Amino acid sequence: MRKRIAVCPGSFDPVTYGHRDIIRRASEIFDEVIVLVSVNHSKNPSFSVTERIDMIKAVTDDLDNIEIDSFNGLLADYVKKREAVAIVKGLRAVSDFEYEFQQALANKKLYDGAETVFLTTKPENMFISSSVVKQIAQLGGDITDFVPGKVKDIIVERFSKRPL
Ligand code: COA
Repeated sequence: MRKRIAVCPGSFDPVTYGHRDIIRRASEIFDEVIVLVSVNHSKNPSFSVTERIDMIKAVTDDLDNIEIDSFNGLLADYVKKREAVAIVKGLRAVSDFEYEFQQALANKKLYDGAETVFLTTKPENMFISSSVVKQIAQLGGDITDFVPGKVKDIIVERFSKRPL
């Protein structure tokens, strides 16, 4: 039978506990999960694509059905090319919904062969976002509860030397 592949896209700038939870849960539902470092054209990333991939690798090394890739194009084209059956996204709050709903509809219009699947974020991760992590790190706060230990030092180090 054909493998059921899901794509988990995002900027991952940087990866957080919230992302890791969604990736782990997707890996239990699908045969294979491609974590896709994608470009959000309205954002100016703080970490290079290679740095983001390395951080995702570090926090998912206990999962054996994960692939990490990057793509600078339309998500729908990538999903089609990889013959994935789903796009998996985490929903944190009602405020995420309108944007995610629009993206899901646009992706479906561009490629009808995959469904967007929303997983509800764990309550303890509801307040996390990559920007919040960067702001706290830049201002010398403690990001222990926001990002896995394996990437914490890399993030702290980056923002102790460089502004957002
Ligand atoms: N827990 C905690 N935080 C989470 C989370 C979770 N489960 N899921 C997402 N977040 C955070 C992210 O860190 C991000 O924080 P930030 O805004 O501070 O950076 C925020 O929620 C938004 O995440 P998301 O909606 O996934 O946006 P994104 O910028 O990470 O990714 C893309 C958006 C890259 C998937 C989208 O722009 C895309 O598909 N780009 C490709 C081009 C394309 O096809 N465009 C047309 C799409 S219709």
